[in-house]
Amino acid sequence: MSVESIVTPADKILITGSNGFIGTRALENLLARGFFNLRCFVRPSSKLEKLQKILAQFPAAKNVEIVAGDLLSREDCRRAAKDVAVIVHLAAGFDKSFAGAFMNSALATRNLLDAFLELGKPRRFVNVSSFAVYSNFKMERHALLDENCPLETEPQARNDAYGFGKLKQEQLVRDYGAQRGLKWVILRPGMVYGPGKSDLSGRIGINTFGFFIHLGGRNEMPMTFVDNCADAIVLAALKPGVDGEIFNVVDDERWTSKEFLAARKETKNFFSVWLPYPLMKFGCGLWENFSKKRHGQLPPVFNRRRCAAEWGGNTFSNEKLHKLLGWSPKIKTVDAMKLFLAQYK
Ligand SMILES: NC(=O)c1ccc[n+]([C@@H]2O[C@H](COP(=O)([O-])OP(=O)(O)OC[C@H]3O[C@@H](n4cnc5c(N)ncnc54)[C@H](OP(=O)(O)O)[C@@H]3O)[C@@H](O)[C@H]2O)c1
Repeated sequence: MSVESIVTPADKILITGSNGFIGTRALENLLARGFFNLRCFVRPSSKLEKLQKILAQFPAAKNVEIVAGDLLSREDCRRAAKDVAVIVHLAAGFDKSFAGAFMNSALATRNLLDAFLELGKPRRFVNVSSFAVYSNFKMERHALLDENCPLETEPQARNDAYGFGKLKQEQLVRDYGAQRGLKWVILRPGMVYGPGKSDLSGRIGINTFGFFIHLGGRNEMPMTFVDNCADAIVLAALKPGVDGEIFNVVDDERWTSKEFLAARKETKNFFSVWLPYPLMKFGCGLWENFSKKRHGQLPPVFNRRRCAAEWGGNTFSNEKLHKLLGWSPKIKTVDAMKLFLAQYK
């Protein structure tokens, strides 16, 4: 697993969101590569079982620090970032409110960046963003969505608080790069799946009105197995010569939404109804107009921008990930799906 690196195992690496779905896998990946000078940032209320189970597998991990705090506190960020060479920033806000998402994604990141530049030994800031920052609203259906595609300019109209937080977070990182010399890499994972996340992505469909509405049809899913995604994140933290680069993270093999749903149903069948895209688009347009006329009395949860982003469909590429990071998915989809589906049994 050895790879040319901007840091040595003696340099300190901070992982935020280290107890989370992807964070635990990134932690394990770093440990497996022989990086033990790690600081795991968690909240006082965070569940630590998964994280501790991973640490227990590596005797050399006995000195890994677990620092409890909240990234909304500047003082906690200072404790987190002191003497750190690389930050792998996974913590994020999944709040439904725009204020909540802004706080936990953008404000938290600003606090961390300030502390990193003040007290760290900054070599790289790895910001884990999301496909939610893209807008395919003006793109043809099934057009290639890569790192050069337009970003969402109207997250409010899309009613996407999470995407709004991620856009603000990315903007901050780029601004700190331009104005204060921060070296950064941004990763935008697509649909991350794996054990520990049992809900199906909204790209496949939504569980609403008491049953599952399948909306993804034959759309290609931007899927990446959690360990493959974590591997890309760790490579982005280590690899020389990739500062200022943005990477979409999707695996080589990508199933359609229909195939993914069928595989899920093999473990336990459930009732679902397929809604064709033109019908959904029409419904979303109606909902959006009605919501506008009612001046927000009906929240615009369905709207044309969201419809395009989640169910319009695109094709995807991981060419840049392969070329610049030397990444390739270590876990093949057939094995990844077995690991994913085992959690339902
Ligand atoms: N999962 C996906 O499908 C996906 C796709 C694309 C991008 N991403 C990105 O990948 C990253 C990790 O996602 P995940 O799925 O692993 O999420 P997750 O399991 O919910 O982990 C999020 C982590 O952030 C921490 N956190 C949130 N607010 C914080 C704060 N104010 N201070 C300190 N820690 C805070 C949480 O702590 P607690 O445990 O205490 O809540 C948790 O450890 C996120 O940046 C997300 O946007 C995820």
